[in-house]
Amino acid sequence: MALMEEADPRHALAVTAATEHFTAMFAEWLLARPEVLDGAEPRLRTMWLWHSAEELEHKSVAFDIYKATGGSDEWRTRWFRRVTVMFLGDLMHQTLDNLRHEKQLWKWATWRSAARILLSRNGLLRGNLSGWRSYLKADFHPAQQDSSLSTRWLADNRSQYTPVGTAPEAAAAALQ
Ligand SMILES: [Fe+2]
Repeated sequence: MALMEEADPRHALAVTAATEHFTAMFAEWLLARPEVLDGAEPRLRTMWLWHSAEELEHKSVAFDIYKATGGSDEWRTRWFRRVTVMFLGDLMHQTLDNLRHEKQLWKWATWRSAARILLSRNGLLRGNLSGWRSYLKADFHPAQQDSSLSTRWLADNRSQYTPVGTAPEAAAAALQ
């Protein structure tokens, strides 16, 4: 935030658009593989899948505003490379902290599952490499990424969530 204070606001938009591309890629990856959450608490599982659908719904917003305000492709891709390092670094840091806190960090099973989830051919990192590269193309737009899994999940799981803005009474009724 301090870095952005004096800067042209389009820099912050480019950072947001770049981060949104990561969340959109990861969201689609998770919606295609909900079994990754097998064994998780059901409410957390629903929350993560709903959040994935929500990320896919707004994946174009920051990008479109960046373009509409005349943001350049040069800065867009430059920030994307920087965000790659910051975002993945933060994610790794947080995950290691969580694993340490849960006393799971120094277990063989943890590292085996991490290797499978992150590094297998369709894993979170390797499986999203082409999606990562696509952001660097001059004609990239977030809408080029298929988001049909988001629409489908929201339709199939309508009883599990309450749309934002719904009257409190309706929300309470939905929970019964
Ligand atoms: Fe988002």
